[in-house]
Order: sequence, then C-alpha cells, then structure tokens
Amino acid sequence: MIKINRDVCIECMTCVTVCPFTVLEESGEGIRKIEGKKCIGCMHCGAVCPTEAITYDGKPSIVDDELPVIREGFYKDLRNHILKRRSYRHFSEEQVPRSVIKEALELAAWAPSAKNQHPTKWMIIESQDVMEKMMDFILEYVQSTGVSMEIASEMEIGNNVVMGTATSLLLAYASDNAISPETDTAIAMTTAELYLQAKGVGTCWAGYLKRMANNVPKIKELLPELPENHSFYGAFMIGYPEDEEYLHIPQRFKRADIEWV
Ligand SMILES: Cc1cc2nc3c(=O)[nH]c(=O)nc-3n(C[C@H](O)[C@H](O)[C@H](O)COP(=O)(O)O)c2cc1C
Repeated sequence: MIKINRDVCIECMTCVTVCPFTVLEESGEGIRKIEGKKCIGCMHCGAVCPTEAITYDGKPSIVDDELPVIREGFYKDLRNHILKRRSYRHFSEEQVPRSVIKEALELAAWAPSAKNQHPTKWMIIESQDVMEKMMDFILEYVQSTGVSMEIASEMEIGNNVVMGTATSLLLAYASDNAISPETDTAIAMTTAELYLQAKGVGTCWAGYLKRMANNVPKIKELLPELPENHSFYGAFMIGYPEDEEYLHIPQRFKRADIEWV
C-alpha cells in the first residue's frame, strides 16, 4: 500500500490532485490514504512528488532512470516508424535472443491498461517440435470441422498462414475476469511490437494461432496449462525477417473515417 514519508513530504498536494481515484487527502497531520478507497497502483502520486516521499508496499514508487528527454522532431521518427512497421511472415533461422523479447515485454508494462490491471501474461514457444505438433493439430482440427479451410489449402502450397516460418511464437493470455483483457493485451502487444521492430525483429499478429490455441483441445494439452478462467487473447509470429525487404509503404485504401461532433 501507499506510504508517504512525512519526514520529506512538503504537503504540496500534487499527489492528492493527480490521483485518478482521489485516494489521498490532507489530514491535518499530513497527507494520508483515505480508508476504504481503492488504490490502483498507477504510481502517478510518486511520479509527481518533488521530494520522492512515496513508497508502495515498501518499494520506491518511481524507477531509478531520469525522466527521458524527447528530442525536438522525434515525432518525425515516430511517424516514420509507424509507417515502416510491417507484418513479416518469412524469417531466417536465426533465433531472436530471449533478452530482446524480454526487453520488449518488460516495456509493455508501461502501456496503459484498464485500472492499471496489466492482466496479460506471456508464453513464448521456441521449440520447432512443439510448433510442428501444434500445426499438425490445427490441420487436423481444420479438416475435421471445416473451419478456416484456407489454412489447409494454403499449407498444401507451402504457405503457413498460422505461423509463417517463425523461430518463436508468442502467445498472450489473461484472465477472462479482468476488466478489459482483450484491449489490454492488444495495447501491450502493440507496444512490444513497435519496440521489437525498432530493434530489427520481424513480427506478425497471428490471429489464427490465437483462435486455434483457444479452440483446439490438443493444443491446450500440449502447452503448459493456463490458470482457471484464462484464455489466449493474442499471438505473434517472431523472427528475423528474410528476403522480405519492403521497398515501399503500402497504400491504405481505408483511411481515418472521422465524424467531428
Ligand atoms: C488481430 C490481427 C490478426 C492477424 N492475424 C494474422 C494471421 O493469422 N496470419 C497472418 O498472416 N497475418 C495476420 N495478421 C496481419 C494482417 O494481415 C496485417 O496486419 C495486414 O494485412 C496489414 O499489413 P501490415 O501489418 O504489414 O501493415 C493479423 C493482424 C491483426 C491485427
């Protein structure tokens, strides 16, 4: 829980003002948490405190790094990066180091999430044997149910629309009882994807894989068991791009459709 070190607190009230759920108050003996109000642990109080007076569960409420300085004109790089991000499906055999994937997923913790729940957890599959088994189970499922038959017909001509030639697969799962598991997962994955691609890693959202991981019982048996009431909410193909140098920015025929009210 939030603790305010009254020895250093100057009672400037910025923490009280910034708290999204008005959990803090001035008590006459200093600032305190209001009994019964629920703190979401966003640590905005710590982020605005000029004297670093706030801890949470005995830990610092802010990270050690200095607040990053965004240089003038950065928006141009950001714009270019958004325009250059692409879906990659063909990868070299070089494995993306765990440290690089981990760095991206750690950063995703700074993405927004409903009530700061950050419900998403990650499963990374690196074993080609596991991937092959998963693909066999998916094809079996597709052929026996008639669902998404294009997976099988594409596979017959050597095009794996489920996993491409990924060297790693990421599966994101979360509690179905979280406030917004689908949205939170998508935001976390988008954040991680932008970072991974900035580091030269190719990614592609794997919607088929996510669906199959939830629906094909044999895949569920093959993978580590999810906690009760958890589902997969997202998946990526990951690897270093091969032979797929995008030379141009593809046209987008559907552009922002905006109504100003
Ligand atoms: C939720 C979602 C699911 C997707 N599922 C797949 C998939 O299963 N297989 C695939 O090859 N591409 C998949 N894609 C990639 C899209 O086809 C791709 O983003 C789109 O064609 C635009 O290309 P771009 O990402 O290079 O801009 C998916 C994308 C999203 C956002």
